[in-house]
Amino acid sequence: MTLKRTLLAVTLFTTITWYGNSQSRIPEVESLLQKMTLAEKIGQLNLLTPGGGIATGSVVSEDVEGKIKAGEVGGIFGVTGPDKVRKAQEIAVNSSRLKIPLLIGADVIHGYKTTFPIPLGSASSWDMGLIKQSAQIAAKESTADGINWNFSPMVDIARDPRWGRIAEGAGEDPYLGSAIAAAMVQGYQGADLSAPHTMLACVKHLVLYGAAEGGRDYNSVDMGKVKMFNQYLPPYKAAVDAGVASAMTSFNDIDGIPASGNKWMITDLLRKKWGFQGFVVSDYTSVNEMIAHGMGDLQAVSAQALNAGLDMDMVGEGFLTTLKKSLDEGKITEEQITTACRRILEAKYKLGLFEDPFLYSDEKRPETDILTDENRKLARTVAAHSFVLLKKHEKTLPLKKNAKIALLGPLADSRNNMLGTWAPTGEHKLAVTVLEGFKNVAPDASITYAKGANISNDPVMAKNVNVFGPKIEIDERSPDTLLKEALEVAKASDVIVAVVGEASEMTGEAASRTDISIPDAQKKLIRALAKTGKPVVLVLMSGRPLTISEEYELPVSILQVWHPGVEAGNAIADVVFGDYNPSGKLTATWPRNVGQIPIYHSMKNTGRPAESKEFQKFKSNYLDAPNSPLLPFGHGLSYTEFEYSDLKLNTSEIGTDEALTVTVSLKNTGNYDGEEVVQLYLRDVVRSITPAMRKLKGFKKVFLKKGETKLVTLKLKPEDLKFYNSDLDFVAEPGAFEIFVGTDSNADLKTSFHLK
Ligand code: NOJ
Repeated sequence: MTLKRTLLAVTLFTTITWYGNSQSRIPEVESLLQKMTLAEKIGQLNLLTPGGGIATGSVVSEDVEGKIKAGEVGGIFGVTGPDKVRKAQEIAVNSSRLKIPLLIGADVIHGYKTTFPIPLGSASSWDMGLIKQSAQIAAKESTADGINWNFSPMVDIARDPRWGRIAEGAGEDPYLGSAIAAAMVQGYQGADLSAPHTMLACVKHLVLYGAAEGGRDYNSVDMGKVKMFNQYLPPYKAAVDAGVASAMTSFNDIDGIPASGNKWMITDLLRKKWGFQGFVVSDYTSVNEMIAHGMGDLQAVSAQALNAGLDMDMVGEGFLTTLKKSLDEGKITEEQITTACRRILEAKYKLGLFEDPFLYSDEKRPETDILTDENRKLARTVAAHSFVLLKKHEKTLPLKKNAKIALLGPLADSRNNMLGTWAPTGEHKLAVTVLEGFKNVAPDASITYAKGANISNDPVMAKNVNVFGPKIEIDERSPDTLLKEALEVAKASDVIVAVVGEASEMTGEAASRTDISIPDAQKKLIRALAKTGKPVVLVLMSGRPLTISEEYELPVSILQVWHPGVEAGNAIADVVFGDYNPSGKLTATWPRNVGQIPIYHSMKNTGRPAESKEFQKFKSNYLDAPNSPLLPFGHGLSYTEFEYSDLKLNTSEIGTDEALTVTVSLKNTGNYDGEEVVQLYLRDVVRSITPAMRKLKGFKKVFLKKGETKLVTLKLKPEDLKFYNSDLDFVAEPGAFEIFVGTDSNADLKTSFHLK
C-alpha cells in the first residue's frame, strides 16, 4: 500500500464527526494549510469558467489565467481536452506559489460524448444496473478528456411538468429517485476516487429546486418541513449516504432564505444531521443572486454564504473580493475560511491530484475511451429501455421490417433535437436520426419521409428555444404545403410513423412552459393522419410529461421516447421493429390538463374524497375534469401482456425491526418475450401524519419468455415503513398497512399486514 492509499483508508474509515472540523484527517492537507496565506485560502474557494462551455448566467469570468497564477482559483469548468486541462494544471502547479492543482468541473448530465437519454428517460427504464453503467461510461469518457468533477447527479424531485428541468431528474418519486441518486454516485465515483476513470460527483440542487412555484424556473419555494423531509429530501440524502463528494446549492429560497446562504440547510441538515463530509459549491452566481433575492450587498451575501457553510463560490467572485473585508470587520472568522479551504483541498487529495496533477491529462485516452462502439452500444440499449409504450392501438406495433412506411413529422429527420437538453459536451453531428435508424434496422422496408409540419409555427417560441442553436426550424414552405406533402406520402404507405413532440430546448434550464401540449402546428398534422384510416404510430419526443388528452383518444399507438441521445434513431428503430420489446414506465404522472398540476401518485385522501367518477358537490373534485391523471405514475405497456396473481406475504404481522417478504405470481400471457417492472405500493392506513393513499416502496424488473410464469419476490425493509413525523423523527407507527402490487400505481392486487 502506498502512503497515499494508507491515508485514503484512514480518511474513509475514521468516524469522527467533522462538520466543524478544525483538523483534517489527511496530514498532507493539514501541512499545506499551515503554509497558506489568507488570500491563498480564499483563492481555493473560487470556481471560475474561462468560457468554452455554455454560460448559464450573465456573468463570465475574466483573466482566469492571471488569477490561477496569483493563487486565486480553486477550480475551473468549461475547459475540456487533456491538452487544455494539462495547460491549466501547468499554470497552477508551475506558476502559483503553492502549486495547488485545480478541480476541473463540467456538466456531464447524461453522458459525455456518448450522450445517453435525458435523465427523465433513463429513469423510466427503472434499471439501476443500466443507470449505474451509463454513469460509469460518462465518468470514463469525461476523465479521459481531463474532467475530474461532475456537476451531476441532479436529483430534484419534480411534480410540476411545466418546470423545464424536470427533464434533468428522475421524476416525482422519492423512493425511485433515491435509488437512482445512489446508482449515479456509485457510477461516477467508483470505489476509488484516485483511479483515473472515476470523478467527484456533485449532488444538486440543494434543496427543493424542483418545487418552484408555478413551475417557473428559479422561482420561490415554500414548503413545510414534514412534506420536505418525506417527499423532497430523500434523494439528496441517498446521494450523501452513497458517499457523494460534493453538493451544489440551488437558486431558490427555502423558507425565505436563499439556499446558498441557508445555514439550516447547509450546516444543520446536510452536515450535522446527514453527516455529509464533502464540500458545498454554489450554483452559477447564486451567491450574488442573493442580492436580487433581497438579502443585502455583495459583501453581506458572501459573508452570509460562508457563515451558512458554503465552501465554494461559482463564478460570482463574491468570496474572492469581499471575504477579507468581512474578516477584518469581524463578520466571519478565519477558521471558517480555513475549514472551507480544507474541504476543497481534501477533495483534490482524494482525486489523487497532489500525487499527480496530470492524472487526468493523458493524451492517449480520448482515442481509446471516448465514443467507442461499446459505449455507443450501451447508449442504444439504455435508450431502448427508456421508451414507454403509452398506448397500443390494435396490433400496429411492432412493425414488419419489410413494411411500406410513411415516416413523417418534424422530428423524424432532425439531428439537432436527438441529444436532449443540457448535453453541453455532446455533439449533434454524432446523433443518429430516426430516418437513419429506420434504414439501418429495416433495410428491406420502403421508407418515405416528409416533414409534415414545423415543431412550432410560432417565431417567438422558435427564437426563445433556439438560444443554443437551431432546434425549431420554421420551413420556408407553408404549413399547408407541408401537410399536403405528408398526406400524399401517407396515402401511398401501409403504415404511418409520425415523430412529433418537443424540441430538445423546450425543456431544460429556463425552459418552463405554461401550456405543455404538443404545439398546434403538429396537432393539426396528427389529426389529419389519424383520419387517413391507415395504422398510425406516434413516436413522441419530449423532456417532460405532456398533456395529450386529445391525441390519446385518436386511433393511434403512442411510443414515448423522450430525447434519446446519440443513438436515438437506432434505438427507436429497435423498438418500433420489435428487436426490443418496450419496458419503460413513467416516473412522473401525465396530467389530463395543466389545471390538474401538481398531480402525482402519492396524493392524500383529503377529508372529503370523491367517491365516484361523476362530479359530487362538497367533495374534493373538479367541475370540469376528473381527479385521475391521463396516465398514472408507473404506467407503461409492452408488446406482450402480463397477468398478476397470488399476492402473498410471509406473515400477516411483523415487529418494527422485521422485514416483510412479498411474493406475486407474474405470467407473460402474450405473444412476445418481454420485461415488466413489478411495482409495490404501500399505504399506512392510520398514522399521526395524514398518509398518502399509496406510495412506491419497492420494484423489480423481470424478464419473462412468452408463456412463462415467475414468482417475484420483493422485500419491505423496516425503514420502508418509516416516515418523518411532526417532530421530524423517522418512525414507523404500529397499525394496519395495505400493500398493492401490479403494473402501475393503480395496481389493484391488494393485501394487508399489521405492524406490532
Ligand atoms: C447552472 C445550473 O443550474 C447547474 O445545474 C449547472 O451545474 C451550472 N449552471 C454550471 O453549468
